[in-house]
Amino acid sequence: MSADPLEIHLDERDLARSLREDVRAGLTANPKWLPPKWFYDARGSELFEEITRLPEYYPTRAERAALVRHAARIAEVTEAKTLIELGSGSSEKTRLLLDALSDQGTLGTFAPLDVSVSALRQSTATLAADYPRLRVRGIVGDFTRHLDRLPTGGRRLVAFLGGTIGNLLPDERAAFLGAMRAALETGDWLLLGTDLVKDPAIIVPAYDDAAGVTAEFDRNVLRVVNRELGADFVPEKFRHVAHWDAEREWIEMRLRAQRPMRVRVLDLTVDFAEGEDLRTEVSAKFRPDGVAAELAAAGFTAEEFWTDPDGLFGLTLARAC
Ligand code: AVJ
Repeated sequence: MSADPLEIHLDERDLARSLREDVRAGLTANPKWLPPKWFYDARGSELFEEITRLPEYYPTRAERAALVRHAARIAEVTEAKTLIELGSGSSEKTRLLLDALSDQGTLGTFAPLDVSVSALRQSTATLAADYPRLRVRGIVGDFTRHLDRLPTGGRRLVAFLGGTIGNLLPDERAAFLGAMRAALETGDWLLLGTDLVKDPAIIVPAYDDAAGVTAEFDRNVLRVVNRELGADFVPEKFRHVAHWDAEREWIEMRLRAQRPMRVRVLDLTVDFAEGEDLRTEVSAKFRPDGVAAELAAAGFTAEEFWTDPDGLFGLTLARAC
């Protein structure tokens, strides 16, 4: 079967407007920042796929190992009829859930939601071909804004994998989980993937690999702003930095100006001092009890928690209560 036409809740004009708003807010702030969602144009999405194959970047492999071990259990407990995936990207690991839920015979619909039309076109076409009995409904949207557009009815399981929730700051996370709970019915399920706190000697190289792929991914946000808003960043003049914040237990990716620079973007003139940082991403790491507490505060009960065999990455299965 072919996939349903994509449901578009976010078009080029919305995207252009929110990029302008983010650039204006972030580049006039002190310290300067840009949100990580703008990494993912076609090139950025490719670079991210490349990151997931790097020897240093353990989260993707660890989460896959946890899913291999526990997908059958997730299917058995949830008996989901509809699987919704937020920030689905290529939906590569999701196949483990699709297989388990299909084997069990309950699953009828898969609804991946992503901001990237190109990623969704690709993934929905391939998945519809590979799972001919499944209805595949791709939704173009932003998981912080369009949770009210999810398919309704009948035992839903929402999967938010990859540790992407760690890109939200604590107050944004609380708002997101609250909105998620409001979009669900009591009894619906949430499967949340979170990277876990561990020795920074393991975490930092995952965000600063020897081959420099993460550095290129980081600088890609400047290329996006140059192309979309006609800015004149010189990406090569920014050095990629991965900083572990031990107190807040998160990684910050930053781009550090290698010399004083003046950048023109929109109607702004943005000056960088030599050595000044632009924060491009926060990737928070979690502890199991912290995840459960944040879920409880939003109206979920964390019912099961699993990790990969090395204990690097966590999967929490929570129920809307
Ligand atoms: C896709 C958000 C889970 O935070 O680890 C990878 C993105 N950033 N390398 C992460 C990312 C740098 C990734 N997430």
